Amino acid sequence: MEYTPVRVSTLRGDQKIDFDLYVKLPTKYIHYAREGSQFNKERIIRLKEKKVRKLYIPADQEELYQNYISLNLDNAFSKDSSASVESRAHIAQGMTQASVEEVFEDPGSESAYNHAKEVTKKYTDFLLSNDKALSSIMEIQNTDKDLAHHCTRVASLSVNLAIEIGLSDKKQLELLALGASLHDFGLYDTDLNWQRPTSEMTPEELALYKEHPKKGAESLQDKKHLDQAVITIIMEHEELGNGKGFPQGLQDKKIDRLAKIVGLCNLYDRLVTFEGRSDEEAIKQMAFDSVGSFPLENINALKKILKSL
Ligand SMILES: [Fe+2]
Ligand SMILES: [Fe+2]
Repeated sequence: MEYTPVRVSTLRGDQKIDFDLYVKLPTKYIHYAREGSQFNKERIIRLKEKKVRKLYIPADQEELYQNYISLNLDNAFSKDSSASVESRAHIAQGMTQASVEEVFEDPGSESAYNHAKEVTKKYTDFLLSNDKALSSIMEIQNTDKDLAHHCTRVASLSVNLAIEIGLSDKKQLELLALGASLHDFGLYDTDLNWQRPTSEMTPEELALYKEHPKKGAESLQDKKHLDQAVITIIMEHEELGNGKGFPQGLQDKKIDRLAKIVGLCNLYDRLVTFEGRSDEEAIKQMAFDSVGSFPLENINALKKILKSL
């Protein structure tokens, strides 16, 4: 039998699956979930714990999977969807994460980039039109410290922060969401174990870590399908207004406005996802660490958003 890979992040929501799912082992495929079963939250949590990102379907069931995806997209993004906000948030987060994974795996693909752009646009609309969208999205724990999941959490916070400080231009918000979704592209495919506190890194490891924004931006610079605003966010998301950020040590005035929004949200989510802080500890530390490094208006806005979740 021939098999086709499908991303676990696309298997979300209450819709029953009408195809068979298999797990790939070194020498064989093992049946994992039967057609007609529900792919519930517990299953997703277990797969995430095991760091399984792809499952397999029989190649002749691919059309069924495609139908499942379009119905899921409708459930999440259609204005007259009858699904709960929680279910919509799960599907929306998963579909966005999957589109980010595609770009990370194949940055040269114009169609993968355009697909991510299309999905993040719908994701932005969803965040803007639902008061409870952000809290449902932030409730999805990133237990396996997944890079694309971290990126979508940062994107979700960034859009809400931008709205809070009065940025309302739709085009800018969409570019912000896309840039934030791809901000750590430079960490994908690196030998360094970056999924741990920076305080545990050796000086050599830290030096390598500090190259990630430049490495990411430079490897995308020659791709004509990339938006410059996205490359700037990738390049400047670790800069701090006091000049102590990296890779360039830029001063506040020189840092791109959208990159500053992503930078602050990234600072918070790094504490929760990779530095082992609780949500409350991370809010406190983010507020403390960011003074003098980020605009006060942004810090207060993010604090307000996080406390309301
Ligand atoms: Fe980063
Ligand atoms: Fe990050």
